[in-house]
Amino acid sequence: MIGVFDSGIGGLTLLQEIIRHLPNEQYCYYADTENVPYSTKSEEQIKEYVENAVNYFLQRKVKTIVLACNTATNVCIEDLRSRLSIPIIAIQPAVKVAVDNDKSVINSQRKNILVCATPITLRSVRFQRLVDSLNADKIVERMALPELVKLAEKEEFGRLAEEYISNTLQQIDISKFSSIVLGCTHFTYFEPLFYQLAPQLSIFDGNEGTARHLKNILSKLNLISIKGKIPFSVEYIESGKPTQNLERFQRYIARIEQLN
Ligand code: DGL
Repeated sequence: MIGVFDSGIGGLTLLQEIIRHLPNEQYCYYADTENVPYSTKSEEQIKEYVENAVNYFLQRKVKTIVLACNTATNVCIEDLRSRLSIPIIAIQPAVKVAVDNDKSVINSQRKNILVCATPITLRSVRFQRLVDSLNADKIVERMALPELVKLAEKEEFGRLAEEYISNTLQQIDISKFSSIVLGCTHFTYFEPLFYQLAPQLSIFDGNEGTARHLKNILSKLNLISIKGKIPFSVEYIESGKPTQNLERFQRYIARIEQLN
């Protein structure tokens, strides 16, 4: 079984991508519904919440844990990796993909990259290290969009979200940018709105890269399930308990399927 964790329903966008890469697995998706959003919490609180989820996964004897939450990754990943013996795969903003895309645009001036994420992700040491490792400090601009997490949790994908994104984009000179990186798994639901409001920009998230990375790691460890051996399944857990609202998860998954 593979454990996939997020503060809420954002990580379902990564889960769906993982299922496309690894279709014969059993999945346990853990949404910390009682505590979402994490971006308004202290790092100590987030560590405690993630610890609860990790302990739940360990009891379930998962073979790997996927942190499908950029915010939790930035707060906890080093500590988790130093303590746990199973592989911990973690999403991070797809800045490298955007930088590579920027370089590939021949004969054009290098443009800037707008990274949209939660405030915790954007001010983290880990994010700064990522930007520095790509020598991209001069071209990366940060934009915190914490309201999008709340809107996604409330299934508000229409007018309110459009106004919020549009107002935010109006604060910057969009012509300076080549791309937007959606550095929070909740933001992927709004990808069509970003395309609509900034049609000239490329939009990236970390889902594809993380799913590929997970597959490579499991393959190296010989941990990929063989077709037909165990049936594909997904369980949805909310803050440690099986969900009482499967329909809600199904509505989000239907929305993700429309994105692809
Ligand atoms: N999906 C989380 C992320 O990728 C959202 C964080 C939150 O709960 O504020 O960062």
